[in-house]
Amino acid sequence: MVAINMNLVGLLFAFLVFFQVASSEDLAFWKEKAARDIRRAQRLKIKNKVAKKVVLFLGDGNSISTITATRIYKGQLQQGASGEEYELFYERFPNVGLAKTYCADRQVPDSAASGTAYLCGVKTNYNTIGMDDRVEFGNCTQDNPNEYAVDSILKIAQDAGKATGIVTTTRITHATPACTYAHAASRYWEGDDNMPKEERDKGCKDIAWQLVNELPGRNMRVILGGGRQEFLPNFTSDPEDKGKFGQRLDGVNLAETWLASKPDNSKSFFVWNETSFDDVNPESADYLLGLFERSHMNYEANRPNDTAGEPSLADMTEKAIRMLKKYNKGYFLLVEGGRMDHSHHEGIGYHALVDGVAFEEAIKRASDITNDDDTLTIVTADHSFAFDILGYASRGNPILGVNDIDVDQNGQTFTTLHYPDGPGSHYTLEAINHTGLRPIITNPQSRDYLQQALVPNKWASHDGEDVMIYAKGPMAHLFHSTHEQTYIMHAMQYAACIGDDNTNQCKSKNEPMTCGSMNIMTNYGTMMFIVFGLLMQS
Ligand SMILES: *[C@@H]1O[C@H](CO)[C@@H](O)[C@H](O)[C@H]1NC(C)=O
Ligand SMILES: *[C@@H]1O[C@H](CO)[C@@H](O)[C@H](O)[C@H]1NC(C)=O
Ligand SMILES: *[C@@H]1O[C@H](CO)[C@@H](O)[C@H](O)[C@H]1NC(C)=O
Ligand SMILES: *[C@@H]1O[C@H](CO)[C@@H](O)[C@H](O)[C@H]1NC(C)=O
Ligand SMILES: *[C@@H]1O[C@H](CO)[C@@H](O)[C@H](O)[C@H]1NC(C)=O
Ligand SMILES: [Zn+2]
Repeated sequence: MVAINMNLVGLLFAFLVFFQVASSEDLAFWKEKAARDIRRAQRLKIKNKVAKKVVLFLGDGNSISTITATRIYKGQLQQGASGEEYELFYERFPNVGLAKTYCADRQVPDSAASGTAYLCGVKTNYNTIGMDDRVEFGNCTQDNPNEYAVDSILKIAQDAGKATGIVTTTRITHATPACTYAHAASRYWEGDDNMPKEERDKGCKDIAWQLVNELPGRNMRVILGGGRQEFLPNFTSDPEDKGKFGQRLDGVNLAETWLASKPDNSKSFFVWNETSFDDVNPESADYLLGLFERSHMNYEANRPNDTAGEPSLADMTEKAIRMLKKYNKGYFLLVEGGRMDHSHHEGIGYHALVDGVAFEEAIKRASDITNDDDTLTIVTADHSFAFDILGYASRGNPILGVNDIDVDQNGQTFTTLHYPDGPGSHYTLEAINHTGLRPIITNPQSRDYLQQALVPNKWASHDGEDVMIYAKGPMAHLFHSTHEQTYIMHAMQYAACIGDDNTNQCKSKNEPMTCGSMNIMTNYGTMMFIVFGLLMQS
C-alpha cells in the first residue's frame, strides 16, 4: 500500500516536472536533461559479442558542421520548435569517437584515399582506390597488382562467408563504393572511356568492369545506386533518358554480363526505375543490381521530379538489409549518403541539409529492422567539409537564413551558413566588386542559393578537421577516442571476428559469445556429419 502511494507521488512529481520543463528552460530543465544522459551512461553495458552483421553508414562530407546544421534544419521543420535542441537519430548512439582523415600525401583527403582508409585499413595517396601508398595517382601498376592492392572489409566479410552489399546515391563506381571492390590508380577510371589509352594498354581495368567481373564485386548480393553510363556501350540507348547513350568503348553491356553471371536468372534482377525496384521481393531474390540514373542519383529534393522514378536512400537501405538478412552467416553492408558532399562542392547549403535528413532517415529505417544484439551499426564521414555556421543569430533563426541581429562592419547583412572557399566567392575576376562590398543577399533559403564564400574556387573544398564516428551494437565501445581513420576498418574486422588478425580474440575462453563458440558449433556439426555418415553406411 505504501509502495503504491510512493509510486503515485513519484508519478505526480514527474508530471509536474514535465510540465514545468516544458514551459521553461530553467536549471531544473537542464538538470533533468543531464540526469537522463547520466542514466544512459551508467546503464551502458559493454556488448562484448561478435558483430555478426555490420552496417557502415558513410555520409560523404558529413562534417560536424553539416550534422549541426542538418539537426537545426530538421528541428525547424518540426512544429513550434526552434531547432537547435533537436537530436538526429544517430546522435543518440551510445558510443562516439573521432577519426583523423589526412591521407598518405595530403593534409586533407579526397573520398578515394579516405575510403581506402576506413574500408581497406591503409592510408594511401590522394585520388587512389584500394591500393597502398606505393601507387602513384594515375599510374597503372598492373605489373604487380597483388603487391599493391589491399583487401576491403567487404572482401574479408565475403571470404568469411558473409553476404555483402553496397548502397549509394552517387554513381556506384564513385570513390566511396569503389573502395569496397576496386583497385585503381585513379578514382576517375570509372568506365573505360575515362581511362587514358596508355593506362588501358598496360592492362588496368576500369572500375565498373571490376565490379562486374572481379571479386568481391561479382559476389555482392545487392548493388544499388546510380551510374548506368559506365555499364552500357556507347551505342546502347539509355532506358530512361531519350537520346542518351552509354559511354563504354569496349562494346560490353556490363548490366547484361552481370545478369548472365548469376546462377539463377529468375532470382536475379537488374532494375533502373522505382517501379521495378519495388517489384523485387527481397525475401526470394538472390541478386539485385539497381542503377537508377546515368550519373549520380538525384538530390533528395529533386527526386520526385525524376523521369522514371527512383527509390529513396531509406528504401534502398531497407531492401538491401531484407535481402542480406536471409543468410545465416551474417552480412556487411555499406550505405553511402553520397551527395551532401556534392551540394557542398557546388557551394549550395540547401541540398546538403535535405540530403542529410534523408541520410538520417536511412539510418533510422535500418535500425527498425536490425537488432543491436548482433548488428554493429557505425555512422561516420569520409572527410569534413569547409562549411561554417557563423555569427550570433537568434535562437530559432532559420538556419539557411540571414543573421537577424548583426550586420558586418560595412553595414551589410550576412547569412549564418558560409563556405570558406567555392563558387559563392565574390573575389572572382568577373564578380570582384570594386566597392569592396559583398553582393546583396537575395533569397538565401532557396534550393540553388550559393552561400557567400571567401577564396574563389570553382568547387568548395573538403576540410581537414576530424570527423565523427557514432556506433551502436556489439563492440560499439571500440569507438571511444580520437582514432586514425584506418582504425574503423580494423575495428570492424575485430568486432565481426573476420580476417586473419582476429582468430585469437575470437577464440578467447573469457568471451563465451565470440567466434570461439561458433568454431565449437562447426566442430559439433562435423561430428554429427561423421556420425550420420556411419549410420548411413551401416
Ligand atoms: C609508374 O610506376 C612505375 C612503377 O610501377 C614507374 O617505373 C614509372 O616510372 C611510373 N611512371 C610515371 C609516369 O611516373
Ligand atoms: C564508341 O566507341 C568506339 C571505340 O572507341 C568508337 O570507335 C566509336 O566511334 C564510338 N561510338 C560513338 C557513337 O561514339
Ligand atoms: C518538379 O516538378 C513540379 C511540377 O512540374 C514543379 O512545379 C517543380 O518546380 C519541380 N521541382 C524541381 C526541383 O524541379
Ligand atoms: C521501369 O522498367 C521496366 C523494365 O525495363 C519497364 O518495363 C517500365 O516501363 C519502367 N517504368 C518506367 C516508369 O519507366
Ligand atoms: C557591389 O556591391 C553593391 C553593394 O552590395 C551592389 O549594389 C552592387 O550591385 C555590387 N556589384 C556587383 C558587380 O556585384
Ligand atoms: Zn568531395
